[in-house]
Amino acid sequence: MPHFLDIHTTAPSDLRAMIDTAHAMKTARKGRPMAAPDDDQPLKNRMVALIFEKPSTRTRVSFDVGVRQLGGQTMVLSGSEMQLGHGETIADTARVLSRYVDMIMIRTFEESVLHELAQYASVPVINGLTNRTHPCQIMADIQTYEEHRGPIAGRKVVWSGDGNNVCASFLHAAGTFGFDLVFTGPEALDPDPEFVALARSQGAQVDIIRDPVRAVDGADLVVTDTWVSMHDSQSNRERRHNLLRPYQVNDALMAHAKPDALFMHCLPAHREEEVTNAVMDGPQSVVFDEAENRLHAQKAVLRYCLGA
Ligand code: CP
Ligand code: NVA
Repeated sequence: MPHFLDIHTTAPSDLRAMIDTAHAMKTARKGRPMAAPDDDQPLKNRMVALIFEKPSTRTRVSFDVGVRQLGGQTMVLSGSEMQLGHGETIADTARVLSRYVDMIMIRTFEESVLHELAQYASVPVINGLTNRTHPCQIMADIQTYEEHRGPIAGRKVVWSGDGNNVCASFLHAAGTFGFDLVFTGPEALDPDPEFVALARSQGAQVDIIRDPVRAVDGADLVVTDTWVSMHDSQSNRERRHNLLRPYQVNDALMAHAKPDALFMHCLPAHREEEVTNAVMDGPQSVVFDEAENRLHAQKAVLRYCLGA
């Protein structure tokens, strides 16, 4: 049964097919109202549970709308209101939900929760973000890059800031999609060496460069994210800000990238912290296209999980 748990655990040919499907579905429904159904209804008579143990705007709304466009229905569940948040095991939750719904998307804290859910569910499970990874985001980001600039293969992507969950999924994608990735950030917030090693073993060129100006030289795409993720302790906030301030994406930094480089951020952004207003709202920014493409990319993920 095809789950969608991570980029590196999904076959490269399936990932490429999902991006192409997402693009085709987006093109096919241009100009139609959001509530208008797609011509094709692979989720007709299907129910998808969307579980959130952390806040969400994009993931929640884009999955909800996407399922409906494909003809299905959704049930949005908050972890704290489920028995899951009150001592019921993940395995039992998985077994029970599998008796009611056809698919489960979960946003959670520990990666082990996602894996246990997938292990005990008899329906497909989708990763809507864990502390470690955020694969749906990177599918949307690749779709967005290719929409604007053509194939991402052979391009130079620079991640500036915290080596967090979104950065991890970029690393997972580098080998599969054939782009080079430069991480620039403080050593204390480096991405997991296991993910760096994996990307390299898959043939990706991955470099860690502490000087952001040098790192961004010749970049085709500059990406950043919040300095304090949802799972990070607020007590480390000031320390993180101090460490990450030199890695803010601003006009001065973007000037060292290629003139036609794009800027991406998964959002929510903390304006004037990890990115300035000038870059967020500037001509190189494609952040709202990324947000839109969550919808299209995830519809392709839903179809993949359904085998449709
Ligand atoms: N980028 C993203 O996943 O946004 P949300 O936290 O709003 O879902
Ligand atoms: N790194 C961020 C991504 C939010 C979509 C977080 O985990 O909070």
